[in-house]
Amino acid sequence: MVNSSGAPSSGIFISFEGGEGAGKSTQIRRLAETLQERGHTVLVTREPGGSPGAEAVRHVLLSGAAEDYGVRMEALLFAAARNDHVEEVIRPALSRGLIVLCDRFIDSSRVYQGITGNLEGELVDALERVAIDGLRPDLTLILDLAADKGLARARRRSEDSAAPSEPDRFEKERIEVHEKRRQAFLDIAAADASRCRVIDADRSEDLVAADILSQVETLLPSHAPETAE
Ligand code: TYD
Repeated sequence: MVNSSGAPSSGIFISFEGGEGAGKSTQIRRLAETLQERGHTVLVTREPGGSPGAEAVRHVLLSGAAEDYGVRMEALLFAAARNDHVEEVIRPALSRGLIVLCDRFIDSSRVYQGITGNLEGELVDALERVAIDGLRPDLTLILDLAADKGLARARRRSEDSAAPSEPDRFEKERIEVHEKRRQAFLDIAAADASRCRVIDADRSEDLVAADILSQVETLLPSHAPETAE
């Protein structure tokens, strides 16, 4: 891939998107382990967050502390966090040749702030441009799951954990909002088919992991394109 200064960078940048409870973190962990076993150097990161500056902003966003100030304020904070993460962590990792697996990226802003937050499209686009400065994922995997199933999984996960947590600012919203987000992710995938792949997340963890790996393998340097017999 090529970074914004035009210099080639040898790493691979993969983002994971989807609604609550779609299994992104489990699948990212599994993919990272598989890639590491095969000798790749992998960086797992997430948004909002991923760098010290962005993690500080994450707390403000997910606690709901910025909610009262409106969607513009939140969108600017997501963009500020993303810019810090891109410049401090992702771009340097890619220039060192790492495979970067990022839990949420630009499409979450397009969907959560743009579509269900009703932020005007021009502002969404402008913030994205400033935040990423040309650094787009090579591949975006959208884990697709019906909203009611995802929310039920997310609730179970919280109840089973050693430290059950209250739903965050975004998890609290109504089921119709979650369903609208699901459709918005599917629309992004349809509009940008060269970057995005939709993964059916309503299957066993193993099947989803195998599907993800087969998509990622097409980007790996060792991958030889299949030839017709
Ligand atoms: P997180 O705890 O990371 O959960 P998840 O497992 O859902 O990824 O929560 C991140 C929340 O922030 C999630 O509800 C989506 C939201 N979000 C946005 O609204 N805009 C963004 O640009 C990003 C990156 C996340």
